[in-house]
Amino acid sequence: MVRLVPMTESEFRAAVERSVPRHAERSVQRGEWAPEGALEASRSELLEAMPEGLATPGRFFATITNETDGRRVGEVWYSSRRHGGKIRFWVEWLWIDPEHRRRGYAAQALEQLATVAVAHGADRMGLYVYVDNPGAVALYTKLGFVTKNLSMVRALRPGGSAPGAPVR
Ligand SMILES: CC(C)(COP(=O)(O)OP(=O)(O)OC[C@H]1O[C@@H](n2cnc3c(N)ncnc32)[C@H](O)[C@@H]1OP(=O)(O)O)[C@@H](O)C(=O)NCCC(=O)NCCS
Repeated sequence: MVRLVPMTESEFRAAVERSVPRHAERSVQRGEWAPEGALEASRSELLEAMPEGLATPGRFFATITNETDGRRVGEVWYSSRRHGGKIRFWVEWLWIDPEHRRRGYAAQALEQLATVAVAHGADRMGLYVYVDNPGAVALYTKLGFVTKNLSMVRALRPGGSAPGAPVR
């Protein structure tokens, strides 16, 4: 089983530094950003989402650890806020370290997050996932997530904004 352990300040900073190039690379692969400026765009988007860092209200950052040996297997960021008279509980980022994948850690983490969401007063939890990430789509579908909206793009010239190759 896994445990969701709140990140320390240094873990949080390290997680942000890992995420900036990952998010930039994926956004370039997907044709959303140009390579030049992608790192800057990635950093500013992350900082915008968490203006007060680890202490940003309504944002939670946890290391996913193996309960047996206490070792890190991944990380998750989620948000919870009251909006429209309900709690909007959202999984913002889920990452299992490559060497620990396909052992059920993400599924266990999401089941625990469902319990956390209920404790926050939410009656559902949500997340965004790209269709070029079939492993993640398979994971969420298996756990009962259903598609509630679709974001669509149309390329306006060859190689334009069409989705890139599947990302990992
Ligand atoms: C997607 C990700 C979180 C899955 O983590 P994981 O711990 O390997 O997933 P689990 O072992 O809990 O998988 C549970 C089930 O989900 C499905 N699944 C998970 N990864 C899959 C993959 N790469 N291909 C196909 N199915 C997959 C399977 O049905 C799996 O059950 P099985 O192993 O018995 O077949 C992990 O691959 C990852 O961190 N990827 C990079 C970051 C990312 O894409 N995050 C999601 C962004 S929305």
